[in-house]
Amino acid sequence: MPVTLTWTGHATWLIDTGHGVLLVDPFFDECPTASMKARDVHCDAILITHAHFDHVADAVAIAKRTQATVFCNFEIAQWLGKHGVEKTQPMNLGGRVQVPGGTAKMEIAHHSSSFADGTYGGNPAGWLLDVGGRRIYIAGDTCLFSDMERIGRPDARGRGLDVAILPIGDLFTMGPDDALEALRLLKPKVALPNHYDTWPPIAQDAAVWAEAVVAARLATPHVLVPGASFVVK
Ligand code: NI
Ligand code: MN
Repeated sequence: MPVTLTWTGHATWLIDTGHGVLLVDPFFDECPTASMKARDVHCDAILITHAHFDHVADAVAIAKRTQATVFCNFEIAQWLGKHGVEKTQPMNLGGRVQVPGGTAKMEIAHHSSSFADGTYGGNPAGWLLDVGGRRIYIAGDTCLFSDMERIGRPDARGRGLDVAILPIGDLFTMGPDDALEALRLLKPKVALPNHYDTWPPIAQDAAVWAEAVVAARLATPHVLVPGASFVVK
């Protein structure tokens, strides 16, 4: 069964694993480029990389309405609990949990993590998913870091990464050049850019970046528009 990755804009993804839908970093109603509204989202689990507004904005509303469990670091789980979210799975870096369709491992990211109200949001993270038989790495907000070589290593069954989802927006995360270097380390089959063009300070020409990915033979890039899907065959 294929795994379908739908980008709704910014760093928000709906991942249909064939056994349920994972929602990553819900940011809809105040996202200028979002392809849908929070009230229309259906999901079975919610995964959060860090506490910044553009990654958690609609988490409380969607978690309450859908009763989907929120997988996140301990501090974010505490904050969600104080805001009335009942089903959370607090965890921390290096932890691996069962999610609909497979597993999710919380990986390191180099960034910061605080809520809009100033509350400490724990360590920022990325996600390494093994769902529907596919290995998908979501970097989250991060700079380039050398452990991406480790994250990209084939697992015990010899499976490398099928997909890497990377920020290319620069300024708050790595930019296009460092995202190319990230692909050299991660060695995924497919590269999907995100966290760009949401606002003018992170505007990027993703098509130019994709051409560079192809020219350097680093991966097969797919530049999506918000609302479009990529099917991992
Ligand atoms: Ni951030
Ligand atoms: Mn962000």
